Amino acid sequence: MTERLEDIAVKMVADGKGLLAADESTSTIKKRFDSINLESTETSRRDYREMLFRSDDAMKKCISGVILYEETLYQKAADGTPFVDIIKAAGSIPGIKVDTGAKPMAAFPGETITEGLDGLGERLAKYYEAGARFAKWRGVIAISTEQKLPTWGSIKANSQALARYAALCQQAGIVPIVEPEVLMDGEPATHSIDTCAEVTEWVLRTVFADLYDARVKLEGMILKPNMVIDGKKARKASVEEVAERTVKVLKATVPPAVPGIAFLSGGQSSEEATAHLSAMNSGYDLPWGLTFSYGRALQDQALKAWGGKSENVAAGQRAFTHRAEMNSLAAKGSWKKDLEKAA
Ligand code: 13P
Repeated sequence: MTERLEDIAVKMVADGKGLLAADESTSTIKKRFDSINLESTETSRRDYREMLFRSDDAMKKCISGVILYEETLYQKAADGTPFVDIIKAAGSIPGIKVDTGAKPMAAFPGETITEGLDGLGERLAKYYEAGARFAKWRGVIAISTEQKLPTWGSIKANSQALARYAALCQQAGIVPIVEPEVLMDGEPATHSIDTCAEVTEWVLRTVFADLYDARVKLEGMILKPNMVIDGKKARKASVEEVAERTVKVLKATVPPAVPGIAFLSGGQSSEEATAHLSAMNSGYDLPWGLTFSYGRALQDQALKAWGGKSENVAAGQRAFTHRAEMNSLAAKGSWKKDLEKAA
């Protein structure tokens, strides 16, 4: 029996659970491994991801789904067990990044358009066969006050691609994670929180209009937005301000029919990302589930603790489990700073 999109989407944002974004492309994971002086090979990528997916407590209690990259969707653990089976055995849902990356956009200097629509219908059918029940597509919007970015042309093109992708996913029985990311850490990353709020609202209004035009069922999708936050090199806003401004923009743009919103971390520190999520879940009456879909903010500490060494797997798993637990609490609005110190 095929599961309903609505039911999968609701499970993805179930109370106190969120998504592990482990869908770094081969070039992105290489950058992460460079930071611990580890060569990126199929085996080192496998060992790293196996460490995460076999963190049983974290996976069972805190992680509703894992976003994989194509290689990992078909990859097996060292003992031959497919990763998809390990994820499912923990009660978590396998998902897959399906875009093929943000490429320089012709005639729009400084901006990108995300590619991957050609042949996507057939690829989705294969991913479904392999066990994926949700997918991710990331459109990237850069802010530059000097270059006067973003432009309407880039917002519109990325938004339409997201909507085409989402319609194809739903047709294939796969829940689309719609990710329009307004960057906080592009160049020069000095913009104010006001600018971020304005651009994020513009982008989300455009995306929901295009989703409607593409006949996407809002009940069977998840939104993955950035938080409303100032540029990485101009960080001033308090946790409360980020929470308040983010909730305000989301309430103005995201229909309550959407079951859940799962944030990207986008270069925030692990603790910032947790604090912001917890503040949003403790002080506001929200019509959707609000949780995490973090990559770096869930993995950074685990990657460092592991350092590419088999003798550090247990330490890496402890670090990952701690972050997963902190974010699980944040998804319920009950994270406290002193819990970090206690660990
Ligand atoms: P970060 O949380 O590291 O931004 O990654 C999330 C993600 O999936 C970006 O597409």
